[in-house]
Amino acid sequence: NSGKKMLPSFSLTLKSTLILLPLPSCSFQLVESLPWDMPYGPNSSAAKPLYQAWMELLNMTQESIHVASYYWSLTGEDLGVNDTSSKQGEDVLKKFKSLLLKNVSVFIATSVPSKAKHSTDLEVLEKRGAHIKRINFGQLTQGVMHTKFWIVDMKHVFLGSANIDWRALTQVKEVGVLISNCSCLAKDLWKTFKTYWDLGEANATIPFPWPSNYSTNINSHSPLEVQLNGTSTEAYFSASPASFCPGGRTFDLVAVLDVLYDAEKFVYVSMMDYFPTSRFRHPPRYWPPIDNALRSVALHQNIHIRLLINCWVHTDSSMFRFLESLSVLSDQHANITIEVKIFTVPVGNHTNIPFARLNHSKYMVTDKAVYIGTSNWSEEYFSITAGVGLVAKQSSTDATKRNPTIQEQLRALFERDWNSKYSVKMEDLPGQKDCAWEDGFKSSFKS
Ligand SMILES: *[C@@H]1O[C@H](CO)[C@@H](O)[C@H](O)[C@H]1NC(C)=O
Ligand SMILES: *[C@@H]1O[C@H](CO)[C@@H](O)[C@H](O)[C@H]1NC(C)=O
Ligand SMILES: *[C@@H]1O[C@H](CO)[C@@H](O)[C@H](O)[C@H]1NC(C)=O
Ligand SMILES: *[C@@H]1O[C@H](CO)[C@@H](O)[C@H](O)[C@H]1NC(C)=O
Ligand SMILES: *[C@@H]1O[C@H](CO)[C@@H](O)[C@H](O)[C@H]1NC(C)=O
Ligand SMILES: *[C@@H]1O[C@H](CO)[C@@H](O)[C@H](O)[C@H]1NC(C)=O
Ligand SMILES: *[C@@H]1O[C@H](CO)[C@@H](O)[C@H](O)[C@H]1NC(C)=O
Ligand SMILES: *[C@@H]1O[C@H](CO)[C@@H](O)[C@H](O)[C@H]1NC(C)=O
Ligand SMILES: *[C@@H]1O[C@H](CO)[C@@H](O)[C@H](O)[C@H]1NC(C)=O
Ligand SMILES: *[C@@H]1O[C@H](CO)[C@@H](O)[C@H](O)[C@H]1NC(C)=O
Ligand SMILES: *[C@@H]1O[C@H](CO)[C@@H](O)[C@H](O)[C@H]1NC(C)=O
Ligand SMILES: *[C@@H]1O[C@H](CO)[C@@H](O)[C@H](O)[C@H]1NC(C)=O
Repeated sequence: NSGKKMLPSFSLTLKSTLILLPLPSCSFQLVESLPWDMPYGPNSSAAKPLYQAWMELLNMTQESIHVASYYWSLTGEDLGVNDTSSKQGEDVLKKFKSLLLKNVSVFIATSVPSKAKHSTDLEVLEKRGAHIKRINFGQLTQGVMHTKFWIVDMKHVFLGSANIDWRALTQVKEVGVLISNCSCLAKDLWKTFKTYWDLGEANATIPFPWPSNYSTNINSHSPLEVQLNGTSTEAYFSASPASFCPGGRTFDLVAVLDVLYDAEKFVYVSMMDYFPTSRFRHPPRYWPPIDNALRSVALHQNIHIRLLINCWVHTDSSMFRFLESLSVLSDQHANITIEVKIFTVPVGNHTNIPFARLNHSKYMVTDKAVYIGTSNWSEEYFSITAGVGLVAKQSSTDATKRNPTIQEQLRALFERDWNSKYSVKMEDLPGQKDCAWEDGFKSSFKS
């Protein structure tokens, strides 16, 4: 089969004929959602609003849309909530219905067990002709599919922290990326979609090894070279857990470590939770790969590290001890800097909406690369939870009149939050509203 044979030579051909062939030319935009009633003041809009990105994608769709999402919950009714902030989600659901009327093929991979017990979104779409597979990750990996991405017409991609949940649009802070006109990356991400889709049958088992047509040669060793908004860029997708990495697919943990060790000046991380442990086994087990890497690059390479970690009313405050153990390493004379700040989305008058008002974003930016992912940095997110990451590096050539690189844009977004009134140093946590800091902190920071 000739398709199979051509695949391995694809990126090699691309690279060796660089001078003759133009690189594939794609465009990208950072996407975020800012929870309502969380004013940032001037200069705050650093990225495209998530709602706009999703509506644009849905407006563009002509033939097919593939969506991988942990769960769906697009209506206020799902949660028994009557709140105007659910309208945007309801619009998105309407748009999916209208695509089905236009005979667009809608493929949805979702996870069993599901978090959205009362949502009827999927049943509604299925009745109208959507193809839906509920993949039993509980049985396959003892985990869940935590992935969130969309592929439109096999050429546009959205990937980020946002579940298909109305709260992602108006109540939760999310970060993602929209890549348009980029069939090479879209087709590669589709292979990961297929790893889920093809396990959607009862009693399916994870193939080992995966058949070679699931393999990729776009990875950390040979990232795809593309033009993203006119700037030459290296990019690849990673996946987790390792059993969902067919030949050539970079394991998500390896991608994270690669990006960390590759930094030359700084590493800024935005994460919902930070635990160098397992989270779902009792007692928890120490799990240090990322923690070690952070310590190592801070001590050996003097990389400036900033961790911006979310706190909300459900935070397990033992997390602060781990963060504290990193930040105490800072030493001006030895040129070691590990700074930690805690980000809290004010709950305000949104107490009627469960599991909202938090910062869900998961990304890292260094002077060399960006990593945008779907996983918290704790053990199970790499060992049993299905997730994906995007690594992209833009070379900052001709400094005259160029657009900021993707690293510079994500850094700006990070710094906006780092410097905002919603971020505080750990020693200033006592007294912080809407954040469960107490138990872990009484001892360390009593004055
Ligand atoms: C990339 O190009 C697209 C299309 O021209 C534009 O909408 C978008 O804002 C650009 N993205 C960035 C990050 O400059
Ligand atoms: C907004 O941007 C302007 C120009 O870049 C800058 O001078 C100003 O300090 C910024 N304001 C805030 C609140 O960041
Ligand atoms: C999508 O299309 C609808 C109607 O076709 C239009 O009203 C809306 O503004 C479009 N949205 C975006 C984000 O392009
Ligand atoms: C939701 O709230 C609005 C305004 O508070 C009210 O008019 C409407 O009837 C409510 N809807 C339901 C289904 O309760
Ligand atoms: C969708 O497909 C059905 C059955 O093939 C056909 O009857 C209908 O006209 C199509 N609708 C559109 C909008 O293409
Ligand atoms: C994608 O390509 C089409 C056709 O070349 C163009 O009309 C459209 O503006 C492009 N979209 C983006 C976001 O660059
Ligand atoms: C799945 O496995 C169970 C238990 O072994 C068996 O009862 C059931 O028939 C199997 N289902 C399918 C579709 O093979
Ligand atoms: C690989 O080939 C098998 C058998 O032809 C097919 O069922 C499967 O969909 C293919 N997978 C991919 C990712 O193309
Ligand atoms: C600290 O380390 C950084 C990163 O290696 C380096 O750029 C900087 O010059 C160092 N500063 C001092 C005072 O040694
Ligand atoms: C919250 O989200 C923003 C991006 O929208 C990010 O810059 C920030 O670091 C996040 N904070 C935390 C604590 O996750
Ligand atoms: C919630 O608070 C915001 C400002 O913090 C205000 O604009 C909004 O009207 C309030 N909403 C309700 C329903 O009280
Ligand atoms: C990780 O993130 C998910 C949502 O993205 C959240 O539900 C979960 O509680 C987080 N924390 C841990 C430690 O699992």
